[in-house]
Amino acid sequence: MNKPEEKSNEANVRFFDNRQKYLMFVNSCTEKLEISKRLSKELNNFNPTPPSVRIFDAGIGDGTVLAGLMRAMHFKYPTMPFYVVAKEVSLEDVRIALNEMPDRLFEHPSTVLVLTNLYYAESPWLKTNSSVAANQFVWKDVALKGSSAHEFQSQINELSGFLSENWRTKIGKAGNPVYERPVVLVLYREDHRFLLDPIIPRPGTAHADFDLIVAAQPYRARASAKFKAEKIIGPLSRALKRGGRLVGIHSSGNDPALEIVQKIWPKENPFQVDRHDILKAVKAYMGSDASEYTLNAGSDKNAIFKYQLHHLADGLSSNIGTSSVMAGWNAATYVSQIEEQRVEDAMLSNDYIEATRSVLNKYDGLWFNNESYTITRKGP
Ligand SMILES: C[S@@+](CC[C@H](N)C(=O)[O-])C[C@H]1O[C@@H](n2cnc3c(N)ncnc32)[C@H](O)[C@@H]1O
Repeated sequence: MNKPEEKSNEANVRFFDNRQKYLMFVNSCTEKLEISKRLSKELNNFNPTPPSVRIFDAGIGDGTVLAGLMRAMHFKYPTMPFYVVAKEVSLEDVRIALNEMPDRLFEHPSTVLVLTNLYYAESPWLKTNSSVAANQFVWKDVALKGSSAHEFQSQINELSGFLSENWRTKIGKAGNPVYERPVVLVLYREDHRFLLDPIIPRPGTAHADFDLIVAAQPYRARASAKFKAEKIIGPLSRALKRGGRLVGIHSSGNDPALEIVQKIWPKENPFQVDRHDILKAVKAYMGSDASEYTLNAGSDKNAIFKYQLHHLADGLSSNIGTSSVMAGWNAATYVSQIEEQRVEDAMLSNDYIEATRSVLNKYDGLWFNNESYTITRKGP
């Protein structure tokens, strides 16, 4: 059971997690590209074993991170079969992310791609822990015909009715969106079915054992370390194969973006739980099993990395234009996860424009800090 303050924070999730803000953020900042670059380097840190390279994305979002990683995977392992599972509760994100996939399936035909709306503690295993939900389970297997990205795209587009009918959410006990019924969608190329047969999951037989688990921005900054460890990172770690690695990434503040936020709300500091706190809580959650894992916070130099606001067409030189100011303000308040009502109230006066413009001027642009950590399952 969450502490009361966590409960009220949980209830806020819908108020900062606004579609337009997310889409403007991902399109105006380099974050998702920087994350996928960083993950691509992780491909050197594990050794896949036959029959496939196994990847889990704990929140596909707009798909930029996963598509970039899959490009790097193809570069490193051009002929090895891939088993890629991506979790996402949002129908809009699933639709957007699926647009990245026809090209991936074209370039890397030996791919089994699975999308699911199951919870963190369920999705790596593609099964629900609730007997009520199990009765409503929707499992769809799609063997894509043809051999071109164009053909794959049109068959994926045809799934739109299936997705809107089944990929529905309701508000859970904690106030955040949860699935109405569990759905698993399995996509692969029909012309590679024979080769992929041992990798294609079937109801009740799927297993986790991932080589790489991506946990990029998977929780709200203000949730406690205990919540992040027990509900998300701890259960995901159990889905690693021996020798497999989980990479956690979240916003860490101490950057010009937080400076903007604090000019408007001086006491605001959403980033009070750092990677050290999370790993400590994961260790406590694992108990005696912790000895099976290496939890690595890394040095600040290696763990903390920057990304930035794209320089927009209006330029960031002598005269900072409205679109840069609006994009900067949006990104700063999105990353700090400020509830929508508070953002709206702040926008009733022009102070936010001045605050954003002055920070953009001071730093000749805007940058943000993320930090990352890893959890590796020892062996084999
Ligand atoms: C949309 S997702 C993340 C999906 C995907 N892994 C990604 O990185 O785009 C899960 C939650 O992360 C939050 N989020 C996404 N990017 C963020 C960022 N850079 N800083 C803070 N929160 C972020 C969103 O509010 C959302 O509720």
